[in-house]
Amino acid sequence: MKYEQTLFLADNWKDYALLDSGDGMKLERFASQTVIRPDPQAFWRPNKPVKSWKADAWFDAKAGDDERGEWRRLNPKAPDTWPMEWNGIRFEARRTPFRHMGVFQEHAVHWAFAQEQLKKSGHPANVLNLFGYTGLMSLACAQAGAEVVHLDASPKSNGFGKDAQSLSDLDDRTIRWIADDAMKFVAREQRRGNQYDAIILDPPKFGRGTKNETWRFEEDLPGLLDGVASLLVKKPLFVILTAYAVRLSHIALAQALGDRMESLGGRIEMGEMALPEEKTGRMLPTSICARWRAD
Ligand SMILES: C[S@@+](CC[C@H](N)C(=O)[O-])C[C@H]1O[C@@H](n2cnc3c(N)ncnc32)[C@H](O)[C@@H]1O
Repeated sequence: MKYEQTLFLADNWKDYALLDSGDGMKLERFASQTVIRPDPQAFWRPNKPVKSWKADAWFDAKAGDDERGEWRRLNPKAPDTWPMEWNGIRFEARRTPFRHMGVFQEHAVHWAFAQEQLKKSGHPANVLNLFGYTGLMSLACAQAGAEVVHLDASPKSNGFGKDAQSLSDLDDRTIRWIADDAMKFVAREQRRGNQYDAIILDPPKFGRGTKNETWRFEEDLPGLLDGVASLLVKKPLFVILTAYAVRLSHIALAQALGDRMESLGGRIEMGEMALPEEKTGRMLPTSICARWRAD
């Protein structure tokens, strides 16, 4: 297996921009709305003092909780949801109590990659998107002509994905929105003999399936990767594996994936995912990735 060090930089946005970062905070624009959120990775000095940042809302993190907190409106007229677009994929952005805005904008680098690979393949592909949440990757694949199975434990998130499918005029595309536990679904697909040309997985550090099954990244990933590899067609197109807030390095991710793809040849790109900061050229790291492709 060939391994290559890569920087996965999501620099393909019009509707999103990282405006400034530093002193543990970041200032971002999501289409019409600007927000201030804490980010422990933003370790450096901000371009302008955080106190001088202007935004529509800021996120007040709950002490001792990495994820949760409350939004404070700085602009009383700031809407609860508002339209946002990436490359013709339209969706409603929103301020969630889990700190995010209904979009994981750093993944746009993989949406573009998936579209490029699917179009290049020249045949209609079957794609499985595990832990798919917002559904934006599923929509990107469908937009590029793939039939998609989108899976997430949260039925509510599947609702957001379906809404975005309609907003994006992709209702004529086949996307099966499934609420299930990822491990159980993969085992079931193995028994049914279903196969996929490409698989994407973005598992959380810790999660719960539909029947309260626990997911622990470091413990459960090897078993899931075995299952994922067995669901691939003989000549698959790609596999994308991403991870947030785990103690593993991207090298560990890549080699775990590489083991399962060895017989197929191809290559693995591995590295950090990051967002470019407007004007300064600095980067805000977000997550790590290992991405296999056939060519
Ligand atoms: C990091 S988010 C994925 C974000 C996604 N890449 C996107 O762009 O929208 C992780 C998702 O995994 C889901 N999840 C957690 N445990 C799960 C499980 N056992 N089976 C299926 N999905 C699970 C959560 O509901 C959550 O939506």
